[in-house]
Amino acid sequence: MKAVAVFPGKPNSIHLTEMPKPTVSEIPVGRGVLVKVLRVGVDGTDKEINAAEYGAAPEGFDFLVVGHESFGVVEEIGAGVTEFSPGDYVVATVRRPGLSLYDQIGLQDMTTDGIYFERGINLRHGYMAEYYSDAADYLVRIPVGLKEVGVLLEPVSVVVKGINQAYEIQRRLKVWHPRKAAVMGAGPIGLLASLSLRLRGLDVTVFSKEPKPNHRSELVERIGARYVGTGEAPLKEVAGKYGPFDIIFEATGYSPVVFEAMELVSKNGVLVLSSITGGQRTAQVPTDKINLDFVLGNKVVVGTVNASRHDFQESVRDMAMAEASYPGWLGYMLTHPVQGLENFRELYTHLSNGALKAFVQVAGP
Ligand code: BGC
Ligand code: ZN
Repeated sequence: MKAVAVFPGKPNSIHLTEMPKPTVSEIPVGRGVLVKVLRVGVDGTDKEINAAEYGAAPEGFDFLVVGHESFGVVEEIGAGVTEFSPGDYVVATVRRPGLSLYDQIGLQDMTTDGIYFERGINLRHGYMAEYYSDAADYLVRIPVGLKEVGVLLEPVSVVVKGINQAYEIQRRLKVWHPRKAAVMGAGPIGLLASLSLRLRGLDVTVFSKEPKPNHRSELVERIGARYVGTGEAPLKEVAGKYGPFDIIFEATGYSPVVFEAMELVSKNGVLVLSSITGGQRTAQVPTDKINLDFVLGNKVVVGTVNASRHDFQESVRDMAMAEASYPGWLGYMLTHPVQGLENFRELYTHLSNGALKAFVQVAGP
């Protein structure tokens, strides 16, 4: 079968390769599921992997099959699989268990191990191929009514995990009724965070560099959230009049914003950090002021990455709610389709041109 791969450590090595078709029987104890891939989305992580800034090949391979945002249809199941049938639409989670206690209880997204295994990213082949197989435990069913947008489940899960973490942490307050939320950044994660926060009934303000109107500001306004272009003015000045915020979701990919956001968190509020910033950037920060306000205001900042199977399942419900509340909105996120694995280069062109969400249609329908 065809697959798209990189040679980790070699910049711009993305290429088409041939691989044996996986089988159900290579997964232990009859738990295997063979999935025919229909769509695969790409994001900033894929861009970094092709730039050789991130990612590693599985042991015994010099290449890594890319793709971690999957959507496919079950073709065959092992004897020990009861929860899926051929024809079911599914999305696979990304991280696979290592050794820590958290990995043992299905929370490998919270691993304390030094290394982690992520399909399409680190030490495990991904989904940008005609087929993949995996244990049923790592698959999540997509209702047929969501098949046009199912490829967005993985990025939604990253957002939902972050928001779930915030709510979980805020149980410290016994009573927490967040009203005002801010989202930093209007990339896919920022937009999906705005959606999930709107679905939870919050008043949402999205801060993004680009002036409005634009495709992203339209998406924001369609869900009844506020889009504020920050332009060149300091965020604190622009954002001051909308805050303080009970919850802030940071997704700009630009780490100095984190410290500006810290100054916009309300008393008892929580700041969720989701940007993966691989660089060496430094910044000057008003440390006394930030520290004092955090201490006197009982504020929290939490980092979040990846998502558990539970978060994926909850995300399916969020997506169903989104389709019911804002019909067509999720589909409007899918801006740059590419037809066929052999046109994989177009995906990377779209990524470099700042496309909102590019994906490859691997097979129909
Ligand atoms: C993926 C996550 C992953 C993270 C770090 C993101 O692009 O969506 O699933 O944990 O990269 O590798
Ligand atoms: Zn990703």
